[in-house]
Amino acid sequence: MTTTTQGSDGAQRPILVAPSILSADFSRLGDEVEAVVRAGADWIHLDVMDGHFVPNITFGPPVVKTLRDRTDLTFDCHLMIEPADPYLGAFADAGCDIITVHAEACTHLDRTLQAIRDLGRKAGVSINPATPESVLAYVLDRVDLILLMTVNPGFGGQAFVEAVVDKIERVRAMVGRRPIHIEVDGGIDADTASTVAAAGANVLVAGTAIFSGRTEDAYRERIAAIRAAAETTSRSTT
Ligand code: DX5
Ligand code: ZN
Repeated sequence: MTTTTQGSDGAQRPILVAPSILSADFSRLGDEVEAVVRAGADWIHLDVMDGHFVPNITFGPPVVKTLRDRTDLTFDCHLMIEPADPYLGAFADAGCDIITVHAEACTHLDRTLQAIRDLGRKAGVSINPATPESVLAYVLDRVDLILLMTVNPGFGGQAFVEAVVDKIERVRAMVGRRPIHIEVDGGIDADTASTVAAAGANVLVAGTAIFSGRTEDAYRERIAAIRAAAETTSRSTT
């Protein structure tokens, strides 16, 4: 039996768990990626930060490229950088399958999303907790994924922003039958997973909740717990 989130009009979206390597042991990043892959991750979430759009710096295309050798799983690349356009080609070449940009960081969002698709990659758009979902209205036919931040981006381990739950429901209604993933990122654990899945999210990013386990067995348990919580409350099962 496959569990999915179903839009009111019938769109089917699978529940997917995407560990964020931001909370992994960076000194053994490749091994950490392989461990979460074996532990049941659906996608690998890559947080790219520039110290400008967000107050933190992480890694760029060369690191993504070295990780690409470790797994065939979908690389879900979350660009928290401004500007994004000059770097899209480098992230595509490095092996990112989905490239998500922030609406707040893109002056010409429509053009940027089309540029990602022109590179042969899936295009995602993200909005911060305080950004209204109305910025998504005119790009719905340009995106494969909408990432709703459930913390202010920049750091792992922050508290889930409850106010975003209503936004998830509104975005789910906006998306309708379109084949667009609704992803949430920040403060996701087995407790908040049930809330966001009930509201309509189907891709759950989790950093601290998975990697604080430290061992592959703990990663497996935590990924399973997040998935089970989401599948239980997800609006429909088929
Ligand atoms: C925050 C990043 C998140 C972060 C989530 O800016 O986009 O992906 O890793 O971390 P947790 O799950 O610890 O809130
Ligand atoms: Zn992220």
